[in-house]
Amino acid sequence: MDATPPPPPSCRICAGEVTECLDLGPQPVSSGYPREPEEDSGYRFRLAVGVCSSCGMVQQLEEIPPTRMFGGSYPFRTSTSRHMEAHFRDTADRLVRGLRGQRDPFLVEIGSNDGSLLRTVAEAGIRHLGVDPSSAAASPDRPAGVRVLVDFFHEETAKAVRDEHGEADLVYSANTVSHISDLGSVMRGLDAVLGRDGLFVCEDRYLADIVRNTYFDQIYDEHFYLFSVRSVQALAERFGFTLVDAEHLGVHGGSLRYTIARRGTREVSPVIPALLAEEHALGLGDPSTYLRFGDRVRGIRDGLVGLLRELAGQGASVVGYAATAKSATVLNYCGIGPELLPFICDSTPEKQGRLSPGTLVPIRSPEAFRPYPDYALLFAWNHAEEIMAKESGFTEAGGRWITYVPEVRVTGARS
Ligand code: TMP
Ligand code: ZN
Repeated sequence: MDATPPPPPSCRICAGEVTECLDLGPQPVSSGYPREPEEDSGYRFRLAVGVCSSCGMVQQLEEIPPTRMFGGSYPFRTSTSRHMEAHFRDTADRLVRGLRGQRDPFLVEIGSNDGSLLRTVAEAGIRHLGVDPSSAAASPDRPAGVRVLVDFFHEETAKAVRDEHGEADLVYSANTVSHISDLGSVMRGLDAVLGRDGLFVCEDRYLADIVRNTYFDQIYDEHFYLFSVRSVQALAERFGFTLVDAEHLGVHGGSLRYTIARRGTREVSPVIPALLAEEHALGLGDPSTYLRFGDRVRGIRDGLVGLLRELAGQGASVVGYAATAKSATVLNYCGIGPELLPFICDSTPEKQGRLSPGTLVPIRSPEAFRPYPDYALLFAWNHAEEIMAKESGFTEAGGRWITYVPEVRVTGARS
């Protein structure tokens, strides 16, 4: 007797049919850094991605309970990179300038992390509130004057914020909303807290850049959705809003900053139809685009593992640089453990002395980068310029950087 095939998964946003098109699992929780191998819970999930035929939202098919993801020890800090610090300072300046003309404006940031952005907002004397459940947000070290509600942003929290502080003129969020599988609750929260003419400005990694550059390591548990203009537009429309503008940003290998307003309150920028046409030409709604993406990812895996084995065979030393969340996908998908990569240097104190999630590669301080290895595998390719400049002594001494997206490359010349 034939078993009936399981029904296709349905879209978390619109209940449309989702076609599975990429499988990078099994994967551990990307932000779980055990102190020793026994501390690895062994929990793994299938990191699989599908695309909705109806609204175009690219989404993961299996969900990790959020409490497993952002526990008290969530080790990400916005201000670990100068480049990102400058980006958020510049963003905050622009948001503040936009609010200046209004009477007693109120800004809410969803996912305010260590308060990097809100510091500038607070210094400008603008009423604000960060909503963030992480330990970085709760930390007493956060900048003076920054106000935070340590909680997840959802409909109830948003109502509580409105009741206590009044309607928001601006809700801003960077690299956070795509983590929340129940986006409906976020959108209803926005509806509750945003004033009639208020704006929601939200930036996140851009699906088009991920696809163009085979940035497969941008796919990990936290990035539950990979946003595009089409999918964000559909999401906004569903909840009574309109996507009115989008701006391309260089951060994280390519991000988009979306501006969303209540329906009928703003003109839609011509940028939106232009980007929609580009996305269509790129095939972002077409499952076959991701099947080809998957072929390229397998090519990268084979190339990278082949290179590391070859270097090990030659007796060359290789260490990892920057224990990013992205590296969890790479290491686990490629099966790279301490036998191929003895350790990874990372500047985040909370990660040092711990092990990478899943494949248990030790993480050490950047001081362990000296004496220099022969090769360094760079996981923070989004900070390549900053890191390579900081470690210029490495290439001067003949060291070579290995990068793996958009393809496996070895840089720097050995004299
Ligand atoms: P991100 O790609 O999510 O921003 O994470 C960056 C990681 O890279 C973070 O763990 C800190 C690490 N890092 C270094 O170790 N050295 C550096 O110079 C920079 C910029 C980042
Ligand atoms: Zn959908």
